[in-house]
Amino acid sequence: MKIVRTKNELKSLLSGLDTSSGVGLVPTMGALHEGHMSLVKKAFDENAITVVSVFVNPTQFDNNDDLEKYPRTLDADIELLKQISDEIIIFAPSVSNIYPDGQYSETYDFKGLDQVMEGAFREGHYNGVATIVEKFLNLVEPTKAYFGEKDFQQLLIIKNLVALKKIPVEIIGCPIVREENGLARSSRNERLSKKMRDEASFIHSTLSEAKNKFEKMSANKVLAWGKKQFEKHPDLDLEYLNIAEASTLKLTKRKKPKTKYMLFIAVYAEGIRLIDNIVLN
Ligand code: PAF
Repeated sequence: MKIVRTKNELKSLLSGLDTSSGVGLVPTMGALHEGHMSLVKKAFDENAITVVSVFVNPTQFDNNDDLEKYPRTLDADIELLKQISDEIIIFAPSVSNIYPDGQYSETYDFKGLDQVMEGAFREGHYNGVATIVEKFLNLVEPTKAYFGEKDFQQLLIIKNLVALKKIPVEIIGCPIVREENGLARSSRNERLSKKMRDEASFIHSTLSEAKNKFEKMSANKVLAWGKKQFEKHPDLDLEYLNIAEASTLKLTKRKKPKTKYMLFIAVYAEGIRLIDNIVLN
């Protein structure tokens, strides 16, 4: 297993390798689970070299408590990655190695994509995400980089970032991986009590029911129905439930023909923020 701790070490390691059959980058914040593993497996299958970054990026947190409590489990992460292959390069730098001049984000113009949902509720979040992803893309120069569709907004923003900055990389979105009860896999699930981890399956079951209703009901009615379900479930504190156009994330009240819609949700459970989404049509 190659574990690399600094940008210089990574650069010199990559410069000695034959990268002509593809380099896959999977950026993560660690606390790896089946969702991450599906991205790493795909990267490993599609490229001769796979780099997995494990870095809890401080500039994308708007809440210090959330940053401090974010699980850091590098030893367990290494063990999991070993199960895929010893050949994977793990890049686990320190904050000072990545941000030697202070923890600042760049400011990007994502034409409103970052102003709704996660962007609206987590100030500066996507500037922080784009800053770290841009740094890692420039450092690794991957052929392909892999992101989960659970944070679908993040995926669209990264696609915009590479177009904006003309970074020559293919951005690959990978489907959400769920626990047996339907809860979307997330490093944050580890912080839920067993009881809440069961109860939180309500999020996905409600999204699935909403999808069925969307065939016959207006977008507005589906949203009103969905919000009512969460009122009956006060342990799951709904932050937002939105229907948006899948390509632009423009929020929708009335359906237009030939348009793909998705339903997006953020919920607090035991003070832990969970997000999920579903394609509606
Ligand atoms: O999705 C995540 O885990 C993070 O936002 C990412 C892309 C690794 C950037 O820190």
